[in-house]
Amino acid sequence: MWEQIREDVRCVFDRDPAARNVFEVLTTYPGVHAIIWHRINHWLWQHNLKWLARWLSTFARWITGIEIHPGAHIGRRFFIDHGMGVVIGETAEIGDDVTLYHGVTLGGTSWQPGKRHPTLGDGVVVGAGAKILGPIEVGENARIGANAVVVRPVPAGETVVGVPGHLVKRAKAEQAQKRKRAEQLGFDAYGITPDLPDPVENAIYSLLEHIHAQDRKLEELTEVVRQLGGDVGPVQLPELDDAELDKKSDETRRNSE
Ligand SMILES: CC(C)(COP(=O)(O)OP(=O)(O)OC[C@H]1O[C@@H](n2cnc3c(N)ncnc32)[C@H](O)[C@@H]1OP(=O)(O)O)[C@@H](O)C(=O)NCCC(=O)NCCS
Repeated sequence: MWEQIREDVRCVFDRDPAARNVFEVLTTYPGVHAIIWHRINHWLWQHNLKWLARWLSTFARWITGIEIHPGAHIGRRFFIDHGMGVVIGETAEIGDDVTLYHGVTLGGTSWQPGKRHPTLGDGVVVGAGAKILGPIEVGENARIGANAVVVRPVPAGETVVGVPGHLVKRAKAEQAQKRKRAEQLGFDAYGITPDLPDPVENAIYSLLEHIHAQDRKLEELTEVVRQLGGDVGPVQLPELDDAELDKKSDETRRNSE
């Protein structure tokens, strides 16, 4: 336990540039006080001194503003920055090298006994004010944006923001795919500005998506008509497969350089 506490103190220097020395960290960081109390309380909880563990965790809450149920499993090198308003429920499980900011709740959504709080993988960072609710899993190295409300599992390495929480990178990848499709059909929104949301750009992307879906439907219908013996004309629609899109966008980029 003492080695764990030593690691909890040392890890502050990697995650808070404002930390200057061990004395300062030990005397001015409520997040550090809270995890030291929790290491002791969790030990008491596991050795069946449950009331004492709960009373000491309540005492720790009075002085730190951080509420950690003594039953919560917390991995090594855990850091809560600022801390005020953090709540960690009884069945929460937290991996190694996890960072929480103030106002984070790892809470439950049901009054049923049993696992009802989240599980956070190694290296997860949870932004200020975020709520992660229910027995869901947040994969390794995922990042939860400030004030997000997360009620669904988060894959490893992803970033989630907003209410309800949604994946950031996936949204970006979808946007990139739409751009590629549009480029192939001759529409170039880069002339406007790539980063500003433009209503006309969005409308055209939606139309292109719609046309793409219609093409697919038409192909399926044509195939069925053919199978039923119908005579369908030889007109071939241009293919829109992803590999071809990649090739064409590379060509377009090379030509414009
Ligand atoms: C989410 C976070 C980790 C950044 O992740 P990232 O992958 O670097 O994301 P980006 O900064 O590229 O932003 C991606 C998109 O998410 C949006 N976004 C970022 N953080 C957000 C948040 N907390 N809530 C809502 N949207 C957010 C951005 O505006 C951007 O939107 P866009 O694609 O429409 O332009 C960061 O913004 C965050 O919230 N960190 C918490 C830090 C914190 O709590 N600090 C407290 C210190 S006291």
